[in-house]
Amino acid sequence: MMEAMIDDAKMAAGRKAVQFIKNGMIVGLGSGSTAECFIQALIDSDRKIQAVASSRASADLAKRGGIEVLDINTVPRIDITVDGADEIDPQNRMIKGGGGAHVREKILASASDELIIVVDNTKLVPSIGTRKLPIEVMFYGSPATRMKIERTGHQGQWRLNPDGTLFITENGNLLFDMHFSSPPKAPEHIHDALLHIPGVVDTGFFFNMAKRVIIGYPNGKTEIR
Ligand code: 5RP
Repeated sequence: MMEAMIDDAKMAAGRKAVQFIKNGMIVGLGSGSTAECFIQALIDSDRKIQAVASSRASADLAKRGGIEVLDINTVPRIDITVDGADEIDPQNRMIKGGGGAHVREKILASASDELIIVVDNTKLVPSIGTRKLPIEVMFYGSPATRMKIERTGHQGQWRLNPDGTLFITENGNLLFDMHFSSPPKAPEHIHDALLHIPGVVDTGFFFNMAKRVIIGYPNGKTEIR
């Protein structure tokens, strides 16, 4: 699909999500281009809310639009978080972390009474694992951690910046992007095995978290499931 059509679909999903935001709420802001469509629509809506952000980019966009962004370390619970996804299956299992913010995104999602996922229709897959799985890894001992990760049977590589240097997350860690030769039958087992490896902070798998998914289409229509 053409880039401009995908952008229209993302905008439709982002705008739709604003209807679930009420004055007085604390809103978790996800990261990525679709989450940014939501943030822009939230700014335009003039809702009186406070926010917490999963990345510097999302915090900066919200602040520029006049939204008060709270320090996450002063906020024990969040009313609602709106975030994007890289892939989502019919059971709402997801892969996130294309932008490298999935650890913070998962912390916000799990502190929230509700998580709304906003995606364009190209993100819908029958089974997750067609794209890479980002795994956040501590720099300390990372060669040993990588060897254990790859012993689970799946290869990958460290994520790099465009200039070839190592990509470092906002938490100061590396990202290992794991590839699957075909979508795994039981991604939950892979997630559990990876979480047991010392040095692994978290994976980009999200299970049982999305209460509502808003799917945007290039014609501006949306579907909620
Ligand atoms: C960032 C994420 C994003 O939500 C995900 O990559 C989707 O991004 P986009 O809306 O730009 O396609 O998980 O860590």
